[in-house]
Amino acid sequence: MIDLEGLVEPHRVHRSIYVDPDVFAAEMDRVFGGAWVYLAHESQVPEPNDFVTARLGLRAVIVTRDSDGELHALFNRCSHRASTVCQQECGAARNFQCSYHGWTYSNRGDLVNVPFAEGYPDGFDQAGHGLRQVPRLGTYRGLVFATLNPDAPSLADWLGPAAALIDEFVDRSPGGRIELRNRQRMIYKGNWKLAWDNAADGLHPTFAHRSFLVLNERKHGGARSLSQFKANPDDTGMYGDDLGHGHMFVDQRPGLTRSFWETQRPVPGREWYAERVRSEYPDSSAEVLEMAPGSMVNLSIFPNLLIKGNHFEVVDPISVNETRLHTWVAAAAGAPEEVNVMRMRIAEDFPSLGNPDDLELFERCQQGLGIAEIEWVDMSKGLGHPNQQVLDNGVCRGPVTHEGPMRGYIRAWLELMESDPPRTVAGPGPVPCETAG
Ligand code: FES
Ligand SMILES: [Fe+2]
Repeated sequence: MIDLEGLVEPHRVHRSIYVDPDVFAAEMDRVFGGAWVYLAHESQVPEPNDFVTARLGLRAVIVTRDSDGELHALFNRCSHRASTVCQQECGAARNFQCSYHGWTYSNRGDLVNVPFAEGYPDGFDQAGHGLRQVPRLGTYRGLVFATLNPDAPSLADWLGPAAALIDEFVDRSPGGRIELRNRQRMIYKGNWKLAWDNAADGLHPTFAHRSFLVLNERKHGGARSLSQFKANPDDTGMYGDDLGHGHMFVDQRPGLTRSFWETQRPVPGREWYAERVRSEYPDSSAEVLEMAPGSMVNLSIFPNLLIKGNHFEVVDPISVNETRLHTWVAAAAGAPEEVNVMRMRIAEDFPSLGNPDDLELFERCQQGLGIAEIEWVDMSKGLGHPNQQVLDNGVCRGPVTHEGPMRGYIRAWLELMESDPPRTVAGPGPVPCETAG
């Protein structure tokens, strides 16, 4: 049993939430088992029999689309003696055969073959030995979520005001859909919540990304993306939102002095692709080019999805002090291919040069947190400040350097940790898929 008493105060959190393996174990049960967790995007399993692997906390899962087109989230765990049955990240398969003793499952989870079946006791229930499934699935605008918690709110209620921000992100695509492309992975030696703390932290870019900022200014002058952080970011109108349920939002758009395209730094091929767009779309080239740069917002869907720029980044905890980040680029369905090629090139800009700054600082924080005698982590900026406002939809908004969104996700974290929500798994067979909105 862990004692959560006194670990979270209004203005600070105790170091043990980042370093205590018992807290980590409880989070994997209660937060990643009790919340709706992002698993995959439908564009990763576009055709019948496609699959992609994911994790629900530490639980290995295979997201499949069966031959009828229905989605499943199967636990990647053989019903015989527990081996994982799928080792590939993604692909197409009607069946999954366990490498250990050959039990074979359909992509709906049914156990379809047990080799050398004689010898099992009378009454061996083959139908009851299918792959177990996550009991609740939900989709919103192509994003696939799942929860083990039968008492969790509907997915629509869980997303709340975040849903409209997902709409805004997806609707930058003329086809009203995104398609995830090319996964990149990074691992850091630190707790998963350090990435979460950082996701709505508008205070750090001025300092953490200083070398990139200086390079940006020297090479490209003062009005490119990132320049909005060179002086006090709160003077630009940028803001951060606590959206409830741990979701957070940062809007950098008020900090831009010109259009997305005009403030984007050069990337390889930019002139050539831009020229093609201008000649192919003479009447709308400005709008077409505007689809290529990042969205200039950071939308964090608790507890594991960070949408930043044009990226989907999944926070994948490994242990109390190790975390893997998976990053995909969201291509705009229906946009000219030039736009999506530029999205890929632009995706090599900040993530390649900026993310390493963040990861280095996460590791430095984890080192500092190792000093047991110094117990508290401050999260007080903006607490009680008159510039905080509560909007009609309940969203709490403050200037971008305030730490209100951080305190908001910690509240959601604590609620799940304290309530220890029920968790169940489903047997083989159809699992209803909620469509939020
Ligand atoms: S562990 Fe899978 S068949 Fe034995
Ligand atoms: Fe950063």
